[in-house]
Amino acid sequence: MSEVVLTRTVNESQSERSEIIFPSDANALGNLFGGRLMQYIDLVGAMAASRHARAITITASMDHLDFVAPVQIGDLLILKASVNRAFRTSMEVGVKAIVEDIRHNRLRHVSSAYLTYVAVNLDGSKLVVPQVVPETEHQQRRYEDAARRREMRSGETQRKKEMRASLGDGWHL
Ligand SMILES: CC(C)(COP(=O)(O)OP(=O)(O)OC[C@H]1O[C@@H](n2cnc3c(N)ncnc32)[C@H](O)[C@@H]1OP(=O)(O)O)[C@@H](O)C(=O)NCCC(=O)NCCS
Repeated sequence: MSEVVLTRTVNESQSERSEIIFPSDANALGNLFGGRLMQYIDLVGAMAASRHARAITITASMDHLDFVAPVQIGDLLILKASVNRAFRTSMEVGVKAIVEDIRHNRLRHVSSAYLTYVAVNLDGSKLVVPQVVPETEHQQRRYEDAARRREMRSGETQRKKEMRASLGDGWHL
């Protein structure tokens, strides 16, 4: 019989992914496309959420995405994701993207985002997720901030629900 896990630490699901930026990922100025960066952010965020939930997770929303500085062809991009807080079936994940300047051994913050993932079964039904146990002062602060952000996005969540209800099955001629 599998054991029901009610809590998990942040460290248990922290995830990281690295990319070298190629010309096919960049615009005419040699800067990484914003959409490609969003894809990387979503993927690393999903890794952390799925590790936390030990389940498939789907992206419910991405908010507060800051493009702080451009990423250029040849840059080594590092993306780090942590589950800030779990609610019932959803989790807020914070992602930070940094560029490592290998020659000068220094780091540059290029982007940050908060995403919400929902844990689901193979049939798409939602799953209750373990709560997050913050262990450091930093994690505790992010845990508390996540509750405030959830409160702020609740209006948007409600608006999305109403939109889905008004669209019916979503197909239009
Ligand atoms: C995300 C999704 C599963 C939510 O389904 P729903 O029927 O609205 O579910 P509920 O109202 O029960 O919400 C489930 C959880 O998601 C949260 N949630 C729903 N919409 C959200 C949003 N826009 N932002 C943040 N959280 C959201 C709810 O707060 C709830 O959290 P909780 O259980 O921890 O309290 C549904 O909207 C969906 O499937 N969307 C498409 C997702 C997708 O395809 N993503 C990939 C992009 S192409």
